[in-house]
Amino acid sequence: MGAAAPVPLGTVKVLVLGSGGREHALVRSLAEDPFVTALHAAPGNAGIAQEVPCHPVDAVDGDAVVALAAELGSELVVIGPEAPLVAGVGDALREAGIAVFGPSAAAARLEGSKAFAKEVMAAANVPTAMARVAATREEAAEALDAFGSPYVVKDDGLAAGKGVVVTEDRDAALAHAEDCFRAGGTVLIEEYLRGPEVSLFVLCDGRTGIPLSPAQDFKRIHDGDEGPNTGGMGAYTPLDWAPAGLVDEVMDRVATPVLAEMASRGTPFTGVLYCGLALTPRGIRVVEFNVRFGDPETQAVLARLKTPLGSLLLDAAKGRLDEDEQLHWRHESAVAVVLAAPGYPASPRTGGRVRGVRKAAAEPDVTVLHAGTGTDENGRVIATGGRVLAVVGRGDGLDAARERAYAGIERIRLDGGQYRHDIAAAAAAGRIEVPAAAARPPRTAPASNAGADPVTSTMGTTV
Ligand code: AMP
Ligand code: GLY
Repeated sequence: MGAAAPVPLGTVKVLVLGSGGREHALVRSLAEDPFVTALHAAPGNAGIAQEVPCHPVDAVDGDAVVALAAELGSELVVIGPEAPLVAGVGDALREAGIAVFGPSAAAARLEGSKAFAKEVMAAANVPTAMARVAATREEAAEALDAFGSPYVVKDDGLAAGKGVVVTEDRDAALAHAEDCFRAGGTVLIEEYLRGPEVSLFVLCDGRTGIPLSPAQDFKRIHDGDEGPNTGGMGAYTPLDWAPAGLVDEVMDRVATPVLAEMASRGTPFTGVLYCGLALTPRGIRVVEFNVRFGDPETQAVLARLKTPLGSLLLDAAKGRLDEDEQLHWRHESAVAVVLAAPGYPASPRTGGRVRGVRKAAAEPDVTVLHAGTGTDENGRVIATGGRVLAVVGRGDGLDAARERAYAGIERIRLDGGQYRHDIAAAAAAGRIEVPAAAARPPRTAPASNAGADPVTSTMGTTV
């Protein structure tokens, strides 16, 4: 272990690792925090590069990231994506004495292996879908028949949100399992969970967890939740329809037991535990854990967070989150709509010119956050990835926030670009139904609940 460099009181120099829309949102929020005196990103994207210096680096190469952080004098590295976390980049930085927001490789297995996540949930008595691991066609067929249709088949390893197939077609379910076997992996076959989904981010310092405002993500490529799964095509927050006790319940039944279980295994969890949940007729169930902020939920959630982000993330990294920390939120709703490249998610075609970003960003209460963007030889913005950017609209209530987000995205041009038109539409119209069993009364006064009171939330818990 190298000696930790003392962080001067009251300031911190931050390096954000990653190149997506989530990282652009993190950079935006960190840039607004007066506590953050230097801010760099690596490798970044065209939008991030307009705001802070970006450095080319292979984000999964621990030595290269440590060398860059040392050269920049970074006192906190915020690791955005899962791949460097699973690859142990956080461990390499910590060994070099640099504070990290993000878990160790051992703790990142909560996302890196769905089978491991299930094992932890079983040990911690956390409610989740029943599941079986299958390694052969026969095992897969048997598990599919045991759970019945709709079938849920998940690649056990990391798959950028695209390893999951949910289908009523048994042959398609088996074919996905066989694709995973051919690639050398195993699959998890699960019971289908019915009910609205919620993404809750919990900031963790190894012992204490503090929830952010819950959000909802839109996984499928097309309107009406049609088409294949993607990394996420849009998100909104807060969830006006969420049961009053939802955040308390997720903390009590999911986040706190998982934190305790990980600590007791000697692999305490530091960073953000993304709890992907379904509110089913039999109560809340964990759909998945991620070990990093969600994309594009972060773009919406951080648009509402008033509490300075830099000190929060440093406190998490240093094991000193205060469970009574009161987070402050803007009164508004936020809606993020993703613009994806043509051909996304199967085979995105990159290189297209992206026009109108400045016009979109000039709309009131609209922010444009880049994801898969770069610049051509003339410095013009082009698409370099499947998800190209997100337009975030803020407004008094979901209708207003949607109106802003769509006013922004309509100004942007990308040949063949795709976006959904129904982000937050059902919630704005009051059409989301929560099964009765998923709604239980709040543990404490409703004012302490991040779901019920969108403006302040306390509610940290310590294991
Ligand atoms: P995951 O990568 O595990 O988050 O799965 C991606 C998406 O697939 C989820 O957000 C859900 O929309 C869907 N999904 C995953 N597991 C299930 C399940 N057991 N039942 C229903 N839908 C699921
Ligand atoms: N929006 C889903 C994810 O970040 O995994």
